[in-house]
Amino acid sequence: MKKIAILTSGGDSQGMNAAIRVVAKTAMSKGMEVYGIRRGYKGILDKDIFKMNSLDVAGLAGKGGTMLLSARLPEFKDPEVRTKAANILKEFGIEGLVVIGGDGSFHGAHYLYEEHGIKTVGIPGTIDNDIAGTDYTIGYDTALNIVLESFNQIRDTAKSHDRTFIIEVMGRNCGDIALNAGIACGANGILIPEVESTVDDIIKIIKKRRAENKFYDVIIMSEGWKGKETIAQDLKERMPELEPKVVVLGHIQRGGSPTAADRLLATKLGVKAVELLEEGQSGLMVGVQSSNIVTHKLSYAWENYHKKSQEDYDVAMMLSV
Ligand code: ADP
Ligand code: F6P
Repeated sequence: MKKIAILTSGGDSQGMNAAIRVVAKTAMSKGMEVYGIRRGYKGILDKDIFKMNSLDVAGLAGKGGTMLLSARLPEFKDPEVRTKAANILKEFGIEGLVVIGGDGSFHGAHYLYEEHGIKTVGIPGTIDNDIAGTDYTIGYDTALNIVLESFNQIRDTAKSHDRTFIIEVMGRNCGDIALNAGIACGANGILIPEVESTVDDIIKIIKKRRAENKFYDVIIMSEGWKGKETIAQDLKERMPELEPKVVVLGHIQRGGSPTAADRLLATKLGVKAVELLEEGQSGLMVGVQSSNIVTHKLSYAWENYHKKSQEDYDVAMMLSV
């Protein structure tokens, strides 16, 4: 394989740049020409495709965002739009395509291969950690650490004022950020979409804490939890003495310099992605499972996605008091 292209698609994540750098440098070291496509699948249709050189990726390992820019293009679900994109890739002589993104982006890569024979490999890049076939996605560790830092800051003021805070974190329908940041921070209650829970579960924790002379609480709630719109109101109705405040962390969770763990993950997965293309393999995703670099069919990412276990959640809630 002589000519490959890279694109980033869907929500950006810290470590996407690190992955771009590694894919480009690995491919260049093997004598391949490397092309960057700006703004994901949209960039293919716009023919926003440029030849990359080693200067383009210099100093990228620690930079947040994605130098290839990202976008969402819902029209890519339309087979006719994908046919146009496949023809453009062929017109540019692109033989292999590395897609860095989440499971939506993996769907696009899957169809480009299945329908048009474009050789594609997916690298999981999303803060949500919602892809089967890998224990971690690139960006997830950095997002967890951002939540941890914010939690510490909020806990300081919560303690000073005897207040109850609810921190809303991202993750779409996946509660991994909330659950694992909650465990790491010692949150006083965790609310995630995968496990049935109500405001009454939080009230129980708060009452136990008051009985132990703990007069503040910091709860972590995933954006996908069903009761998020009314949580402050519901808590106040049951315990009028509370002054619950919701803090939405939002997009700060996606920015900033990636952690060492995310940079290393990006490196291992980036090298593997290029090796697969070099071997002529396609329609695959790369991941890390139990410290091993693994490959699966792209469709594995969404077909094998499992809900979080009740046991992990129960331990987290036991530690919440
Ligand atoms: P992520 O990749 O982070 O999960 P999205 O779900 O927003 O983010 O998907 C990113 C892009 O991938 C979409 O805007 C679209 O261009 C493409 N995509 C998503 N789902 C599909 C699908 N079912 N078929 C083809 N392309 C898709
Ligand atoms: O998939 C990453 C993510 O940050 C989700 O956690 C969140 O639900 C979504 O993207 C936000 O998307 P946008 O940047 O379009 O607001």
